[in-house]
Amino acid sequence: MMRFNCSLTSALWAIFALLAITLSTACTNTSPPSEDVIEYARSATPDNPETAEIYQRSCMACHGNGTSDAPLTGDQTAWQPRMEKGMDTLLNNVVSGMGGMPPYGLCMDCNAADFQALITFMATPAQN
Ligand code: HEC
Repeated sequence: MMRFNCSLTSALWAIFALLAITLSTACTNTSPPSEDVIEYARSATPDNPETAEIYQRSCMACHGNGTSDAPLTGDQTAWQPRMEKGMDTLLNNVVSGMGGMPPYGLCMDCNAADFQALITFMATPAQN
């Protein structure tokens, strides 16, 4: 009985792992950002010091780093279809969380104006 449970569990894990690999490959393969964009995203910060402080503490870990599924800061290809959904939709999705993004993008004390400034900054095409 124990043995049956164990092999069932490992079979489930194997399926889960395969699924995870397939999904993550699918995500990273959609229009990879250029080296220039990756470089820009790594160090770019908003001009406004208050926005910059929030960005560095809450959003940059994912949006400034090419290793997550988050649309990279300055990656116009990634941001354009998202911006087309409209600012209200984007704000709602940040507040409720989306995919790999936790609710509020980890900024619990951010208001709508903060989020809007952060989104506008991240969606601005990279300047190299
Ligand atoms: C833990 C990682 C993580 C953090 C922290 C994070 N994000 Fe995200 N964000 C993501 C991921 C992943 C996506 C893509 C979600 C998807 O498409 O399923 C995303 C998508 C978005 C989108 C697009 C939503 C849409 O409707 O397409 C916006 C806007 C956004 N993030 C803003 C922010 C802001 C602002 C912050 C900081 C306050 C932030 N994020 C912090 C991971 C993160």
